[in-house]
Amino acid sequence: MALTQELEGALNAQVTLELESAHQYLALSAWLECEGLPGMAHWMRMQSGEENEHAMKFFEFLVDRNATVKLGPLPQPVLEFNSVIDVFRASLAAEQRVTEAINTIYAIATDARDFASYPLLDWFVNEQVEEEATVQQIIDDLERIEGNGYALLMLDRELGARQEGAE
Ligand SMILES: [Fe+2]
Ligand SMILES: [Fe+2]
Repeated sequence: MALTQELEGALNAQVTLELESAHQYLALSAWLECEGLPGMAHWMRMQSGEENEHAMKFFEFLVDRNATVKLGPLPQPVLEFNSVIDVFRASLAAEQRVTEAINTIYAIATDARDFASYPLLDWFVNEQVEEEATVQQIIDDLERIEGNGYALLMLDRELGARQEGAE
């Protein structure tokens, strides 16, 4: 079954949105490197890599469904932040935006009775719950830390230990 034009457009927009997330996470990583927080910068760089993988999941699905992949332009990422917690709040806001976009695609797929797209979209629904929870936990930790430099160093070490495939 061919994708409807609307679903094809929404899936294509999602490829670009995931690439935009990857680009933004890389900018967050760069900012954290400048702040002397290499562990958090590493965490953001891994996050960026995951977003690239997400983009490719949609890319490959479009190819499998015999649709044309059309990449859109990427906006300039936000580069300036006032504090470490602002960086993670920006990350949470971006994830919430992605969750909204996934939900919209799900609604479009449902209207189109495109059941073949459900496994992919279900994976993303679950992924977004995890993504938001993980970033929210880090924000909670940062709020608890406030101005405690030693605790910030410990959190930086913890996030720096993140490995491929682990949250
Ligand atoms: Fe993503
Ligand atoms: Fe994400």
